[in-house]
Amino acid sequence: MTQHIVKTSPIEGQKPGTSGLRKKTRVFMQPHYLENYVQSIFDGIGGVEGKTLVVGGDGRYFNDRAIQVILRMAAANGAAACIVGQGGILSTPAASHLIRKRETDGGLILSASHNPGGPDEDFGLKYNGPNGGPATEGVTDRIFARTKEIDQYRILDAQDVDLDVVGESQLGQMRVEIVDPVTDYAALMESLFDFNAIRSMFADGFRMRFDAMHAVTGPYATEILENRLGAPAGTVVNGTPSPDFGGGHPDPNPIWAKDLMDVMYGADAPDFGAASDGDGDRNMIVGKGSYVSPSDSLAVLADLAHLAPGYAAGLSGIARSMPTSAAADRVAEAKGIASFATPTGWKFFGNLLDDGRATICGEESAGTGSDHVREKDGLWAVLLWLNILAAKGKAVVDVMRDHWARYGRNYYSRHDYEAVDSAVANQLVDDLRASLDNLPGKNFGPLTVASAEEFAYDDPVDGSRSTGQGIMVGFTSGGRVMYRLSGTGTEGATLRVYLEQLETDPQAVEKDAQTALADVIAAADQIAGIRERTGRDAPDVIT
Ligand code: G6P
Ligand code: ZN
Repeated sequence: MTQHIVKTSPIEGQKPGTSGLRKKTRVFMQPHYLENYVQSIFDGIGGVEGKTLVVGGDGRYFNDRAIQVILRMAAANGAAACIVGQGGILSTPAASHLIRKRETDGGLILSASHNPGGPDEDFGLKYNGPNGGPATEGVTDRIFARTKEIDQYRILDAQDVDLDVVGESQLGQMRVEIVDPVTDYAALMESLFDFNAIRSMFADGFRMRFDAMHAVTGPYATEILENRLGAPAGTVVNGTPSPDFGGGHPDPNPIWAKDLMDVMYGADAPDFGAASDGDGDRNMIVGKGSYVSPSDSLAVLADLAHLAPGYAAGLSGIARSMPTSAAADRVAEAKGIASFATPTGWKFFGNLLDDGRATICGEESAGTGSDHVREKDGLWAVLLWLNILAAKGKAVVDVMRDHWARYGRNYYSRHDYEAVDSAVANQLVDDLRASLDNLPGKNFGPLTVASAEEFAYDDPVDGSRSTGQGIMVGFTSGGRVMYRLSGTGTEGATLRVYLEQLETDPQAVEKDAQTALADVIAAADQIAGIRERTGRDAPDVIT
């Protein structure tokens, strides 16, 4: 086997976004593109000599080819071992768990999450550190810096590793260990939740539909829900991962998981519906005729987590991203525990979890998780919901009613304007930033602006500061709008507008969210001139 040192030069635009580097698959497939980035990761983390890495992805198009390249490069760079999910498959939370359980030096996760897959769709690659979490900004900055000065990469000339057979082999001097992707993760779930109680609930006729969206959670959900918890065969639908996710968009929200929504709002709806995304870290929860928004789901899970054995001792704190509704803060306040609001991106929870300051975290973008791993975890959220329903013996709709009666309701919605011209989107945000000082006291319809600022975060653990994390405008009514540009899109800019209104009158907590938010929605448009600037008369996606 020959080791090559290949001369290369920097490639534009290899800047990691909210969650690693995401590009069109064909961009990743260009000569040297993947290799440059992988070498930059290795260099950015101080080399991989003697190190052990976990490698796996969500099975999308190019997953297997990219893994072969990564393995040959890891071997050529002197890595001691790579632990790879069978077939190249590892859900993001399962990869995080494996990094932690095997005490490795981190891992490479191949995924573009909820973005579609295929030769003309998206691909992604990110590095997670030894704590199992996405690289911190300091590390991603170093990786990006390397992409701008790289002049060579190392790669072994070798046959493909057989990724389909569990077992050990050698690639040059490096050990390759192929592991079953589900076993360790399923055992972790079993240690956190009351599987007996959930099993009895299914035995008593509780019906559920889990839509794996042709993505990575299929094998995990089938093993856990059907094989271990006794849910009837067919509970998991679209359970075989496919390289293009069945031609779909593996994003668990009411728009992309419309089939599931139709079933859950139909005549013969099961008791519980759930879905997960491409790489298994997001979740959607929907009861019979009742969709649960991710912000509400976080608040309910934080409130009732103690009903699951893994959280019986209570929580140390609750963390949410700033655009997520403040519903979780109200739970933290009632429990007398700490609450945190971080920038968008799961990486910002890592320090809080490592330091024991927060136990449960969540984001409006359908991510919820806890200190059991350092990623959000779709199936974990589904299992915690099931554990809560089993313990309470109540339907989802009643759990939500109880919650709003006790805490009030933070009406919430996100409006997305996708593939907006980047110059237009940047100008909109720049102009908003410039107008911040003039906004307080101004009226928009019945609303008066109380505060306007650009969000910056001071990490309480490592003292680092992250600026430019979104524009927030608060109203005297307790309502709020937040604007930010997505860090995960691959085409133009996506403008996200987060809308929220607190309602504490128990008689008024069951309205339709868009109706309850009408004044905030109108004010959001007036303040930023969204329609006028983008030429759109409605958002592309409403969650
Ligand atoms: C990924 C990240 C999340 C983030 C989400 C939305 O899923 O892991 O932490 O909330 O993307 O990010 P965006 O920048 O597109 O709003
Ligand atoms: Zn994801």
